[in-house]
Amino acid sequence: MNVVILAAGQGKRMRSDLPKVLHAIAGKPMLAHVIETARQLLPARIVVVYGHGGERVREALAAEDLLWAKQEPQLGTGHAVLQALPHLDPAQPTLVLYGDVPLTRVATLRALLDAAEGGLGLLTVRLPDPTGYGRIVRADGEIKRIVEQKDADDTERAIDEVNTGILVAPTEALRRWLPGLGNRNAQGEYYLTDIVALAVSEGMAVQSAAPGARWEVEGVNSKRQLAELERIQQRNVADELMDAGVTLADPARIDVRGELICGRDVSIDVNCVFEGRVVLGDGVRIGPNCVLQDAIVGAGSIVGPFARLRPGTVLGTDVHIGNFVEVKNSTIADHSKANHLAYIGDATIGSRVNVGAGTITCNYDGANKHRTVIGDDAFIGSDTQLVAPVTVGRGATLGAGTTLTRDAPPDQLTVSRAKQVSIAGWKRPVKKKKG
Ligand code: UD1
Ligand code: CA
Repeated sequence: MNVVILAAGQGKRMRSDLPKVLHAIAGKPMLAHVIETARQLLPARIVVVYGHGGERVREALAAEDLLWAKQEPQLGTGHAVLQALPHLDPAQPTLVLYGDVPLTRVATLRALLDAAEGGLGLLTVRLPDPTGYGRIVRADGEIKRIVEQKDADDTERAIDEVNTGILVAPTEALRRWLPGLGNRNAQGEYYLTDIVALAVSEGMAVQSAAPGARWEVEGVNSKRQLAELERIQQRNVADELMDAGVTLADPARIDVRGELICGRDVSIDVNCVFEGRVVLGDGVRIGPNCVLQDAIVGAGSIVGPFARLRPGTVLGTDVHIGNFVEVKNSTIADHSKANHLAYIGDATIGSRVNVGAGTITCNYDGANKHRTVIGDDAFIGSDTQLVAPVTVGRGATLGAGTTLTRDAPPDQLTVSRAKQVSIAGWKRPVKKKKG
């Protein structure tokens, strides 16, 4: 089939400079969700109809398998699909999706395609409050036409079955119908919905299918609706994680803005945010209030509470990263620990290393980043600064408070502190009495 994704609308009610379809759900633009869903149907063509802020949309989502059709000005949904027509394979049906309806499931679209049986298929839903939507007008149970809210009379407005906008049609028929659509209606627009009456007049079957859940066909026109769908998507992701065996302290308090891959018996406490691609090995425990981005955590490791793993973090087996520890672009090998208040950036840390509280890798000299290398079994005393590039040998010990500017040899104690002295007879200053 062909897929046409309508994404030319302005989205004024978002009150944003960002084109509407680029606003993110679960860390990914809405339009990217729709494209991903379309791809799962293995279509011959995917055409995105773009308009407002269009170049930005094209740049953000450029991909080899996408075709782009510009719609300028935007004269309605029928006019939008007309712009895509030249790109479509006439021998295959065309599925129309909306770039601002991000959460439609593939199974729902398959059900629609099956229901259409080569004719016209509409995804419709019954709503307790159908205000604003196009209404599905039936006679003797058969679909006859769609009437838009603004063109409907009172009887039609009482119909609670609405047009979600998602439909499938034979492409040859679209070629016949779309160029002839008129715009003599309440909005002066070329309505895609007018093709329903045209199909009926030709004796073509018009079938409907319903989505599995109402949120699958909900569109985003405002920041409130964006936030509502974000919650729904997060709940869906949480459900998938739990179905795969992950223990979530509270499925309402996890945010996955990318891909979270978990092994067996992973547990995640409340208020954790996962961004990019995060992989958690078997038995990993993530404490409350952690942020993990593009990180790999080895089996049996413990992270948090209040830990931050930034891109390029790779933790081995049984690594402990405790509270207020930040790790970036660093590898920490098996059984090593950084349990309190540390910054580990651009470092390669061996096995069984203990990184004391308050340890800082000084990786940035103001212009360039440098690496810190720490060998197996090293012990880094508390409040140590490792001024990179610097290497700590295997089994080395750094005394607390050391500022390491040269390499520390293996198996020795290195300490850079001044010697401790006690001054006998020293008195604290006292406040002078006012004259
Ligand atoms: C449309 C349907 C209505 C349906 C509703 C569901 C028509 C005439 N009406 O209403 O029956 O109940 O969707 O939400 O089709 N778009 C373009 N170019 C345009 C106009 C719209 O690309 O010229 C895109 C928008 O970006 C949006 C989608 O098409 O993604 C729907 O546009 P919108 O204005 O929200 O639809 P309505 O006309 O309200
Ligand atoms: Ca609308």
